[in-house]
Amino acid sequence: MQDMDRIVEEARAVFAATDDPDALEQAKARYLGKSGRITELLKGLGALPPEQKRTAGAVINQAKAMVEAALAERREAIKQTELSARLAEEALDVTLPGRGEAQGGLHPVTRTLERIERLFASIGFAVADGPEIETDFYNFTALNTPADHPARSMHDTFYLLDERGSLAQGVLLRTHTSPIQARYMQAHVAKYAGQESMPEIRIIAPGRVYRVDSDATHSPMFHQVEGLWVGENVSFADLKGVIADFLRRFFETDDLEVRFRPSFFPFTEPSAEIDVAFMRETQKGRWLEIAGCGMVHPNVLTHAGIDPEKYTGFAFGFGPDRLAMLRYGVNDLRLFFEGDLRFLRQFV
Ligand code: DAH
Repeated sequence: MQDMDRIVEEARAVFAATDDPDALEQAKARYLGKSGRITELLKGLGALPPEQKRTAGAVINQAKAMVEAALAERREAIKQTELSARLAEEALDVTLPGRGEAQGGLHPVTRTLERIERLFASIGFAVADGPEIETDFYNFTALNTPADHPARSMHDTFYLLDERGSLAQGVLLRTHTSPIQARYMQAHVAKYAGQESMPEIRIIAPGRVYRVDSDATHSPMFHQVEGLWVGENVSFADLKGVIADFLRRFFETDDLEVRFRPSFFPFTEPSAEIDVAFMRETQKGRWLEIAGCGMVHPNVLTHAGIDPEKYTGFAFGFGPDRLAMLRYGVNDLRLFFEGDLRFLRQFV
């Protein structure tokens, strides 16, 4: 039965040359299908005499089993090849570190602003807001700084251009948060117009301000927190109390000196600069300027429609960036605004 050996050999070779499952099934049909070679041989057995039938039958069945085995083996091999190809294609390096979940956090200046808001809220200050693109009127004039006033040169102002590229008439980036004072007082007066007296004004106004300035302690964009308390009999003593109390709570220490140094601002009279000194170790005795303040100038009250004979008030303007620098020990203001995550992550 050399024939059988040849058929088996041939089937093996045909299967081996096939690497596609459909083609393999077609190849199978050539040997084991309804009219496949082996099937035909088995059909032919019936014509043989019984003696031959048995031996021939055994040989053919053995060959059939071998072809079936070769087929199964090839099927498995094709499956494995396909699987490896797919694995290679959809390669997933499980040894790579995971992407993890980035944890966001609040910017140190935001945290500082929120802290300031909380502390002032605890003594009855509401939070007010105003536009960053401001008019010359609110930024200067309403604050007792008319066009020819020398104090205007204290601020290096960014002026806005109109669509033709010329200076927009009286539109600028606010150089301080003080215009919010003027806006708030005006709105407050309008709200209580016609009434015999108005409730006190007690607000802080945190926000971004802009000046043409840039070095380690100045950034063209920085933050201020404006404060304003207007009412009957509000005095400089109240101002000192509020500020000193705030600073001690902000820095969480009583070991701190506050100094009010006479100064000048057009919108306050008298005016002062607020300095702090930490009495602990390294900073001992070093005074740091952190705010301007004073009693609201009568002209500013009048501009807003408030009678300066009846009402008085104080105002102050903090640099919260500087407070954040002191609180966190940061020595370059620009670090806050560069968006470097290596720096920012330290505050999360
Ligand atoms: N607006 C001042 C500045 O930007 C800071 C300031 C000083 C605000 C005195 C005030 C104040 O309200 O009373 O330099």
